[in-house]
Order: sequence, then structure tokens, then C-alpha cells
Amino acid sequence: MTSEFGNLAGRTALITGGGRGIGEAIALKLGRAGAKVLVNDFDAEPAKATVEIIRESGGEADVFIGDVREDNFGDRFIQHAVATCRSVDIIINNAGYTRDAVIQKMSDAEWREILDVHLTAPFRILRAAQPVFKQQAAADAGAGRRLVRKVVNVSSISGLFGIAGQSNYSSAKAGLIGLTQVLAKEWGRYGVTVNCVAFGLIGTRLGTIKSSTTRVRIGGEDVSVGMNSDLHKDLQSRIPLGRVGTVEEAAGAVYLFCTPESDYISGQTVLCSGGLTSI
Ligand SMILES: NC(=O)c1ccc[n+]([C@@H]2O[C@H](COP(=O)([O-])OP(=O)(O)OC[C@H]3O[C@@H](n4cnc5c(N)ncnc54)[C@H](O)[C@@H]3O)[C@@H](O)[C@H]2O)c1
Repeated sequence: MTSEFGNLAGRTALITGGGRGIGEAIALKLGRAGAKVLVNDFDAEPAKATVEIIRESGGEADVFIGDVREDNFGDRFIQHAVATCRSVDIIINNAGYTRDAVIQKMSDAEWREILDVHLTAPFRILRAAQPVFKQQAAADAGAGRRLVRKVVNVSSISGLFGIAGQSNYSSAKAGLIGLTQVLAKEWGRYGVTVNCVAFGLIGTRLGTIKSSTTRVRIGGEDVSVGMNSDLHKDLQSRIPLGRVGTVEEAAGAVYLFCTPESDYISGQTVLCSGGLTSI
């Protein structure tokens, strides 16, 4: 017997930062569920690899290479989706990295950079999507059907509780929760649910202990991501499930908000942290 649960056939999903880590796992999961996935990343090779995996397993996917921080990224991303996909049904704001420093050592540029990637980019993407969601809702009403569309924003325990050394990242991720709540109210009329998943420790280069392997190339520059070893150990020891989450488990939480089964849930932030509920 085949299950109808989570069937996303005929849906189009846009995801930022889909080349690696959690974003890759989300893209693969949505692709397996039948969605056509438009995979963004600023690193072309991993994004293309994600698309290849989806295609090889019989799914539909395409790449959209670009840095979400660029001024016109949101407009270009949405215009490209409208031009090449059937519709815009699911948007996942996932791309990002960290640039940590205690506040007295954090420059204006480091503050702005992280606000840009984690908050301004989702704002611009979603602003660009508004006319599309509005028009699609009008078309649905005209055709006498009701389709619920989905936005999922990726936040963090850092945004909910604050992590020392992350004033830029914590502020941006907290802001994203605010944006989620506002758009859930503004877009109910278009049948769009807007939710947020705040991750705890997930086993990617970002969620692991800082080392030489957690350096990433950002615009030609080496940036050290990952977490301070003491903090990582402390957090890990307090996770009720007793371990760091996998990218598949992280993708599962986002996926729940993409399925028809969550059509009446909006404006929510769910912690996906193995039970960790404070820092
Ligand atoms: N891993 C964790 O423990 C954890 C915890 C809380 C929240 N998060 C959030 O989850 C999301 C994904 O992180 P991850 O752990 O999978 O990291 P990751 O580094 O494994 O993957 C992030 C992907 O995003 C891409 N990316 C980064 N900046 C980009 C930009 N400006 N434009 C386009 N693409 C960009 C990277 O190239 C990479 O492929 C991030 O928003 C992160 O803040 C992660």
C-alpha cells in the first residue's frame, strides 16, 4: 500500500544553501517526495551535485547559483523560478554561515554581513515572492481549488536563547523568527503558511567544533565557522537525546512544515534540538 503522507508531487520548492549540510538534506527529501527543487548555493559544484542526486533518483531539480547577500538576489531567484517552474509553492530560507566575535571585537562589516545573509536575504526573497503568492492564490480561487503554500525559515537556538560570541548571528536568527510571525499574519489571505525551525546542534561543519576543516571560502576569503570546543561539549552533554542531530533529522523537521499535513499550522517556531530547550 502506498502512503499519501507528505506527497509533494506537482509542487515546486526553492531552497537557499542547498549544496551542503542541512540544505542539501532538505533538497533531497523534498525531491524524493516529488517536488521540483530549485537549488541555490553560492558554491556551484555542491549545488550541482545535489541536483544530480535528485535527478538520478528520478526527481526534477535545477540549480540557481548566487550569493543570497547580493542586492537583487531575491528578485532574480523568484523571477527565475517563475520563468522555469510551474509555480512557487515552497520556499526554504536556509543559506548561511557564522562569523563570531565578542561584541567589542565585532566590526560593523561583520555585523552587517551576518545580518545580510540570515535576515536581509530572506526578507528580500520573501518580498519578491509576495506578488507571486498573491497571483497564485487568485488563480486558485478562480479555479475553485485551495492549495496551501509554504515558507520555512531556518533559525537557531542561538536566535532563541543567545550564544556568547554571536551577537550578529543571534540577532539575525531572532529577527528571522519575527519575520516569520509577521508574514504568517500578512499571508494567511494567500493561503501561505510561514513557519520556522530553530536547530540545536546538527552535524555539519557549522554545528561541529572549530578546526581547520571548519574553514569555509566566502567570497574569496577564508572564514572560520564551527563552535568553540567547550561550548560544543557543554551543549552536547545537555542534549536529552544525548547526541548531535543528523542532517536527515534536521531536514525532517523542515519537511513537516512542507507537507499537506501541516496546512493549518502557521507562525510557529519549532525547536529541532534533541530536546535541548535552553542554553
Ligand atoms: N549545523 C547546525 O548545528 C546549525 C544550528 C542552527 C542553525 N543552523 C542553520 O542551518 C543553516 C544551514 O547550515 P549548515 O549547518 O547546513 O551549514 P553548511 O555550511 O553545512 O551548509 C550551508 C550551505 O549554505 C551555503 N551558503 C552559505 N552562505 C551562502 C550565501 N551567502 N549564499 C548562498 N549560499 C550560501 C554554503 O555554501 C553551504 O553549501 C544555516 O542557516 C545555519 O545558520 C545550523
